[in-house]
Amino acid sequence: VGREDLVKSNGVGNPILRFTKRYVTAAAGALYAFTLGVGDARNRRLIQQLATQFGHRDGETPRLPVVPIDRVTSPSTQVALPEPVAADGNVTLLELLVLSRLVRERRPRSLFEIGTFDGRTTLALAMNAEADAVVYTLDLPRHASADLGIERAERAFVDKPQSGARFLHTDAAAKIRQLYGDSATFDFTKHAADFVFVDGSHAYEYVLSDSERALALLRGGAGTIVWHDYGEWTGVTRALDKLAATDARFADLRTIEGTTLAIL
Ligand SMILES: C[S@@+](CC[C@H](N)C(=O)[O-])C[C@H]1O[C@@H](n2cnc3c(N)ncnc32)[C@H](O)[C@@H]1O
Repeated sequence: VGREDLVKSNGVGNPILRFTKRYVTAAAGALYAFTLGVGDARNRRLIQQLATQFGHRDGETPRLPVVPIDRVTSPSTQVALPEPVAADGNVTLLELLVLSRLVRERRPRSLFEIGTFDGRTTLALAMNAEADAVVYTLDLPRHASADLGIERAERAFVDKPQSGARFLHTDAAAKIRQLYGDSATFDFTKHAADFVFVDGSHAYEYVLSDSERALALLRGGAGTIVWHDYGEWTGVTRALDKLAATDARFADLRTIEGTTLAIL
């Protein structure tokens, strides 16, 4: 029983009993998640988080240099943070804050997101962008197969009921253009951007391919690219470490402290 339990009890109820109930629920839930429930992507994610908490690393340790949030962005920047509650597959609230600050400060006019999912990040990008900015967001159509093959755990994010559900019917939707296709075969040549968020497939080959596409989207290399899930998904970590080590165009890649964001 932790100090927190005793302090929070306020004398109401027995803290040992409350802790025991919590313990039993967690133990039963863990037993389910580790056995019958292992087919559910949310439970596999929980197992992954637990393993990370206890020091497990898939593959190699992330190698990108770490930069503090307040050095990449300013603590005095005010942002809009819509849809603060994250679903599995979304960025964390801290990551949403960093992305929103970057957009407010760098004021991109054309933003491109690879991987719409429920549109939570798309909405934040749109609400923090200038009034005349446009946010393009590309998603793999439901049940579609992917040219380079995506990871099994990603299927749930692809087969959602409605791509971009969180921004539909919001005022900011006027700034958003939804695109559908496979990022490996999509024709990016019709687009240009000064802010790109890469958060589509997490498979190694895709991250390499999407990174190349993201760089091509920046006009003359000017602008910002942010990746999600560095240090979290092996494919993302391996691909970005490789690019930073072997390709001069990606030599300045950094990861942002306290997040799984990488930035160029
Ligand atoms: C983790 S979710 C994105 C989360 C979202 N960016 C957010 O911040 O909430 C990954 C998304 O990428 C999409 N996706 C996966 N493979 C893709 C591909 N090859 N091309 C385009 N989109 C892809 C999935 O359909 C899913 O919507």
